[in-house]
Amino acid sequence: MTYMVAHLSDEYLLELAQYFSSLHLPYPPPQVSNTSPAILEHGRRLVMSGDTSRNIPACIACHGDRLTGALPSIPSLLGLSRDYLNSQFGAWKAGTRRAVRPDCMATIAHQLTPDDVGAISSWLAAQPVPEDMTPVPASSVRFPMSCGSALQ
Ligand code: HEC
Repeated sequence: MTYMVAHLSDEYLLELAQYFSSLHLPYPPPQVSNTSPAILEHGRRLVMSGDTSRNIPACIACHGDRLTGALPSIPSLLGLSRDYLNSQFGAWKAGTRRAVRPDCMATIAHQLTPDDVGAISSWLAAQPVPEDMTPVPASSVRFPMSCGSALQ
């Protein structure tokens, strides 16, 4: 993938992104796991409220209060599998997933312990995807930290 993408122009990459974002593919059903209620509650709390004592912002602050993302550049956190979510946090921690600095998601990933990541991924993957997946407008989110990849 890296080799393929390296040879494509920014204009063509934008065209590809616009094409894929115009598709409305069906989402998978919520993933039920045998994760304990206490762990799921830990995940829910981090997503909805963060943990100020550990400098972890609430995910909804940027991803929208329904987690459906925020225009123009914050993705939804619903309809993603636990494995996908876990591997993204692994990639941010390992430095293989990067964004323009300040790379807010990499910073947040480093604040999270492996147990936090497991709890967040299990809780997010278990959430039903709402009928209306429209992202919230940019004006309704106020970033608690800056993100180089996101306009606000
Ligand atoms: C300060 C704003 C901000 C906060 C707070 C934030 N995010 Fe993000 N998040 C972003 C931005 C910007 C992106 C897209 C850029 C990127 O991928 O680096 C993103 C992308 C993601 C993605 C990638 C989605 C995909 O489809 O690959 C995941 C997963 C994610 N965030 C999870 C979280 C979780 C979980 C939390 C809370 C612990 C959180 N984010 C808090 C700004 C934020």
